[in-house]
Amino acid sequence: MAAVFIYGIILKRVLSGIQPSGQLHLGNYFGMMSRMIHYQEENDLFCFIVNYHAMTSMQDGALLKENTIRAATDFLSLGMDPEKSTFWIQSDVPQVAELTWILSVVTSVGLMERGTSYKDKLAKGLKANMGLFSYPILMAADILLFGGEIVPVGKDQKQHLEMTRDIAISFNQTFGEVLVVPEPDIDKDTQLVPGLDGQKMSKSYKNTIPIFGSENEIKKKVMSIVTDSSGVNEIKNTDCALFNIFSLFLDENGRVDLADKFNTPGTGYGAIKAELFSTIMDYFKPFREKQSYYVQHCDEVYEILKYGAEKAAAVAESFLTPVREVTGLNYKA
Ligand code: ADP
Ligand code: TRP
Repeated sequence: MAAVFIYGIILKRVLSGIQPSGQLHLGNYFGMMSRMIHYQEENDLFCFIVNYHAMTSMQDGALLKENTIRAATDFLSLGMDPEKSTFWIQSDVPQVAELTWILSVVTSVGLMERGTSYKDKLAKGLKANMGLFSYPILMAADILLFGGEIVPVGKDQKQHLEMTRDIAISFNQTFGEVLVVPEPDIDKDTQLVPGLDGQKMSKSYKNTIPIFGSENEIKKKVMSIVTDSSGVNEIKNTDCALFNIFSLFLDENGRVDLADKFNTPGTGYGAIKAELFSTIMDYFKPFREKQSYYVQHCDEVYEILKYGAEKAAAVAESFLTPVREVTGLNYKA
């Protein structure tokens, strides 16, 4: 297997992807994106925009195109460094579709039928297409094609990672030990960022705070975070969405100060929300500036993605070669 050495240290291959299925939000940022950006400093980081996956729930070509470049631009603006990482668009390395097919023959229908994310999507009214059903096999191929060892995700992806492990083990038992079995990486502080209504923040629940929304949009969203009816002069419960979202931006001391505000009469929810709004704007200010730059220099983004896809394709081939060999797809003597 390809291993990357720097100064004699073996770097871990950290890999994750995100769907370009709408505006990226604070749940995506703290659950996955900021962690990936942090990991690029001391790991061999692979990160990609999964546009094939997005097609399972969105069949509008113009919108997919727009969302894909937007998601890539947003990730770069937040600090993804194409020199320190391998960053690309999933469909630019179509070998993933080949591996998906190969993996599908060692995956039982029962495993897919147990998928809670699939069942949730049907319950939300999505059409039961085959792509939606076999979504986890494509995700397994994403990871196994590059020998991903550590996969940073939010808690909602835990079952998909377990399925990836099952599929890799099943392949290795059937054909020989070729695939790397990955480990999920779920951070307990950020695994489930609450949305405006206290449920999991998610595009599909329409309860998000978008990272790159307009100032007005973000202000409106923050002001609409659901709170109880405690008045200015009452003690407030810290077990709520407002406290939990605000905490994401604070260190240990900051959280103690925020808890003091909740526990001391005199500060209303409105004032705390106004403070959260300016904290969010200050935190993302440099990233918003970078994003405006990239939006006006799309060609630079295309170049970065092309470079990333070339690097990713070389690694994909190095993992596919033994797969084609052990499965007999390479039929030449
Ligand atoms: P959404 O639920 O909004 O459609 P995605 O499924 O595209 O989000 O998630 C992309 C990444 O962000 C995944 O790793 C996912 O686990 C993480 N993520 C999404 N929402 C949250 C959340 N509320 N808290 C923590 N992580 C999240
Ligand atoms: N299923 C993931 C999500 O909805 C996205 C994804 C696709 C992914 N391929 C991946 C995540 C590979 C990690 C690794 O968020």
